[in-house]
Amino acid sequence: MGKSRATKAIGIDIGGTGIKGALVDLRTGELLSKRRKVPTPVGGDPREVIEATMEIVRKIWDKDLDGDSDVPVGISVPAIVKHGVTRSAANISPLWIDFAARAAFSEAVGREVALANDADAAGIAEVRFGVAHGRLDSVIMTTLGTGIGTAMFYGGHLFPNSELGHISIGEHSDYEKFASSKVREREELAFAEWGARLTPYYRQLEALFSPDVFIVSGGISKQADEFLHYIDVETPIVVAEFMNNAGIVGSACLAAEHWV
Ligand code: BGC
Repeated sequence: MGKSRATKAIGIDIGGTGIKGALVDLRTGELLSKRRKVPTPVGGDPREVIEATMEIVRKIWDKDLDGDSDVPVGISVPAIVKHGVTRSAANISPLWIDFAARAAFSEAVGREVALANDADAAGIAEVRFGVAHGRLDSVIMTTLGTGIGTAMFYGGHLFPNSELGHISIGEHSDYEKFASSKVREREELAFAEWGARLTPYYRQLEALFSPDVFIVSGGISKQADEFLHYIDVETPIVVAEFMNNAGIVGSACLAAEHWV
């Protein structure tokens, strides 16, 4: 992982429903362009997702960079990413399993791109510019969305692909299927009921890793005031600073660091 001197990069965040991207200032984490978005192709076939991603990349080249395509590109996906190969597909098409995604994205973009897990990328944004900026102790970020994503940091460094949304607690062998934000919506759980599901989750992470702080992120963190107090753990829990742009900003950071 070397560092380049780039001061801006394109960050792309691929999710289950939308693909979002923007040009990012790597010194401040601010967006230098409009946030561009296209729907994720139905079924999430990797080739179609790459084509949809290219629509965003081309738009940024043309409209925000005066045709300059020589800017680093970082992309995040909701899957395990090992050395550029996607290794899981909890909430996306199974075609992503063992797909040489970085090579395929790099070919489409015409330069080597960085590829990372979405929660890892979002965590990077919080550690570089957000609520965990400057923290060197142990930080576990959790993203509560369609699934539960996690990113673990110590000394400001990421331990990638932690995938702690899938831990087994009691009779729930894949805990995100019981406690994600999507499950809360589907089952129309009151925040108190959801909190009663999240408490054993955070307690388990606490017992395993003794983190110094938890960060809660994901769209629902906008309503943190309504549910955070229902999560009964000793470790302090803070709300992410970046709401919708964490994945974009974190992906852009990794692009400039030759993330593999
Ligand atoms: C996936 C993770 C992802 C998380 C959030 C989980 O189902 O396994 O890779 O980070 O969802 O999107």
